Amino acid sequence: MNLYKYVSESINKNLGFVANLETPRNRTFGDFSTNAAMVGAKSAGKNPRDLANELLPKLRDLDFISDASVAGPGFINIKLRDDFIWRAAAQPHTEKTDTPKKIDLDYGGYNVGKALHVGHLRTSIVGDTFNRIAKHLGHHTKSYNHIGDWGRPMGLIIAWILEYGMPQNADELNKMYPASTARAKEDDAWMARAKEITAELQSGNPKYKKIYDDFMKISLAQMDNVLHRLNLLPFDATMGERGVAPYVNDTQKILESCGLLVESDGALIVNVKTDDDTAPMPPLIFRASSGAQTYAAADLSAIYYRTKTDHPDTIIYFTDSRQNLHFNQIFRVAKMAALTTAELFHTGFGALTGPDGKPFKTRDGGVAELLDILDMVRDAVRARVSTSGKQLDDTTIDSIALAAIKFNDLLHDVRTDYIFDPTQITSFEGRTGPYILYTAVRLNSVLKRAGHAPTPSAIGELTDDERNLLIETLDFDRTVQSAFDNRATDMIANYAYDLCQLANTFYHNCPILRDDVDDATRAKRLQIVRIARDTLATAIDLMGLRIPNEM
Ligand code: ARG
Repeated sequence: MNLYKYVSESINKNLGFVANLETPRNRTFGDFSTNAAMVGAKSAGKNPRDLANELLPKLRDLDFISDASVAGPGFINIKLRDDFIWRAAAQPHTEKTDTPKKIDLDYGGYNVGKALHVGHLRTSIVGDTFNRIAKHLGHHTKSYNHIGDWGRPMGLIIAWILEYGMPQNADELNKMYPASTARAKEDDAWMARAKEITAELQSGNPKYKKIYDDFMKISLAQMDNVLHRLNLLPFDATMGERGVAPYVNDTQKILESCGLLVESDGALIVNVKTDDDTAPMPPLIFRASSGAQTYAAADLSAIYYRTKTDHPDTIIYFTDSRQNLHFNQIFRVAKMAALTTAELFHTGFGALTGPDGKPFKTRDGGVAELLDILDMVRDAVRARVSTSGKQLDDTTIDSIALAAIKFNDLLHDVRTDYIFDPTQITSFEGRTGPYILYTAVRLNSVLKRAGHAPTPSAIGELTDDERNLLIETLDFDRTVQSAFDNRATDMIANYAYDLCQLANTFYHNCPILRDDVDDATRAKRLQIVRIARDTLATAIDLMGLRIPNEM
């Protein structure tokens, strides 16, 4: 159950004020605190402390409240009844939404013929977690991998292949685009050729199409590999720039009929600047002067296609923040042309940086490839495990490395940069993925050792550590809802950490399987472990991590 919502609504209803409910970090004085008396004081013509005192009996009337007291200038602290907490915590999680939405999600967005790089990490991880959160709440999502598979890079790669032959694997393929680009910079004829090939490919030249289809297979296999290693849900549609090409004409007609397209130096553009703009707002380029389909045309046509096929209520894009301007332009045009009735959102990410605050680079100064980063973190886990003298198999090491990367990525507000430090994120202590997994493994191991323990009938009193942990589990549904509403996946990661902290404190202070613990207490505590484990496992699942058998 969403404890916060339940308590908040019950209190507001009973007192007749819409007040704020706070959850204090330190629960010594109360589990919640409300500012109802401060809110009501003015209209009641009373001072808040006096009003607070008058309200106390009304609060004590509520059957889930064991005590209420006035604090400070008129806050009311509320303590919940143990038996209420107990019963609430035993209920299964998630109320599914009553109003499921159709949501198209656009993340990943990998490029054909190019290695996935550090910039693709967050879009993959955050997009995937958001998808899981939305599904968990009962929304209908469709995930799109809007791949870069139709622009100039394709012409440059084909030009290279015509001269030097087909690549045999992803490594060979991924070297071609940079090599061909370098050559095009020095050799105008080469560039002209690449442009021509691009335009001809886009208008259906069968020879180029055959080459394209062949190297496409290599790239798609490479994307699958990354998906697998990052434990991402499969995309519902791998449909990018080429996939939407058949809809560019329809989209163009709509823009034309709205009088939005303007010719400029042989290109077709849309002016999106408004009088309110203070920052530069260049026009959107719908068709390049070479006649080639642009990045913007693809995104507008994608909106047209998705609207026609999926009828989404919402479309959300997850990319790095360097594309903020692009999506701003896209959204403006989509609105001006009424391409969709869906709400459009773009979440722009900050970058992974080195300790110097500059974008994360490999040791030799190159752009870090995504698979290299995964390997780097796996090595860091391996090194740590071997110094600690533990023996862990490869699957476990992989799960820990995955948790290290993903948890750290999810932990930060998506809009900010963060320092990527393989040593720090693989620590078994602190706000790290391994710490989260370690706690889950520990809870699992208690339950395993306990075997079939009876479910307790009555619970008696709860100790502070017991009730704090249970109350935290009762904050899960609210957290997931808010993570969804705010598109803030960091809330899940931070919640998981807080839950683990409380679970470990409970574990230290509340013996469970020791001989001197009586049966009733043991049964009660095992039940608490079960509830905490289930909640943590669900959070871990939303982050797309795997819990190892041992650590
Ligand atoms: N392929 C692009 C890149 O690697 C990202 C695509 C993002 N999605 C979109 N609909 N434009 O930068």
